[in-house]
Amino acid sequence: MKQNIYDDPAFFAGYRSLRENEAGLNAAIEDPAVVSLLPDLRSLRVLDLGSGFGDFCRFARGRGAAQVVGVDISGKMIAEAANRTSDPGITYVHMAMEDYPVEVSAYDLVVSRLTLHYVRNYRGVLDAIYRGLRIGGRFILSVEHPICTARCQGWNRDAEGNPLFFPVDDYQMEGERRQNWIVDGVTKYHRTVSTYVDTLLEAGFSLLRLLEPRATEAALKRRPELRTATRCPPLLVIAAGKSGGEIVAEGSRASLNHEAGSRT
Ligand SMILES: C[S@@+](CC[C@H](N)C(=O)[O-])C[C@H]1O[C@@H](n2cnc3c(N)ncnc32)[C@H](O)[C@@H]1O
Repeated sequence: MKQNIYDDPAFFAGYRSLRENEAGLNAAIEDPAVVSLLPDLRSLRVLDLGSGFGDFCRFARGRGAAQVVGVDISGKMIAEAANRTSDPGITYVHMAMEDYPVEVSAYDLVVSRLTLHYVRNYRGVLDAIYRGLRIGGRFILSVEHPICTARCQGWNRDAEGNPLFFPVDDYQMEGERRQNWIVDGVTKYHRTVSTYVDTLLEAGFSLLRLLEPRATEAALKRRPELRTATRCPPLLVIAAGKSGGEIVAEGSRASLNHEAGSRT
């Protein structure tokens, strides 16, 4: 049974407020890391698994992507994404990514941002993504760092709320975790860094980059509390390629783009 916590009204309201107030890690830490791994998006066909409010779908179109498909298990997230979007080049699909029938070689770039730690069948999703990418295509994923999902209970704090240490336990015991995050009983799946990487390799991908990003200096000025991300890495961000897909500086012509005319 797949969890759909984003359709829980209390969770949805809390999450929307977090994102609207930029109180999370997205804009400060995750976004710059993911953007640093992107190829030139012009003319690319993009799939976003766990597309949420559709931020990346609109960003990709703004950077010239030919078409973008966003898939999300939550009807509330899909409805909000549709409300925020007026672009015929973006299609939103209300469906669990595990069930989405990815067409063979239909995409140049697949992203899944801060979603795969909600998914039990990581390998099954990777196999579908691999089939769905053309040769030379790229997959970029971000997840909560396995150090954080191992015990899933956050920082130990002193009486004033200052972070003392981040307890890690049961790191090698992969599987389901229950967490209080916005509401009680949020289910996540813990897997180790080596499982994240090795499963990609087993599915046929090559590893292009692995990042454990911290807050940018600009973000730290606005939000000094994000210094905790230099003590304990909150996120893991990986770029993987299907036979190629070398990372090149954003803005220059990427290998993905060179091959855009000869899609398989
Ligand atoms: C933390 S939000 C991230 C949204 C977006 N990727 C972003 O970075 O702004 C996680 C999203 O994953 C979706 N999600 C969770 N499990 C999913 C699944 N099995 N299939 C598709 N979407 C899922 C949730 O509904 C939610 O919209």
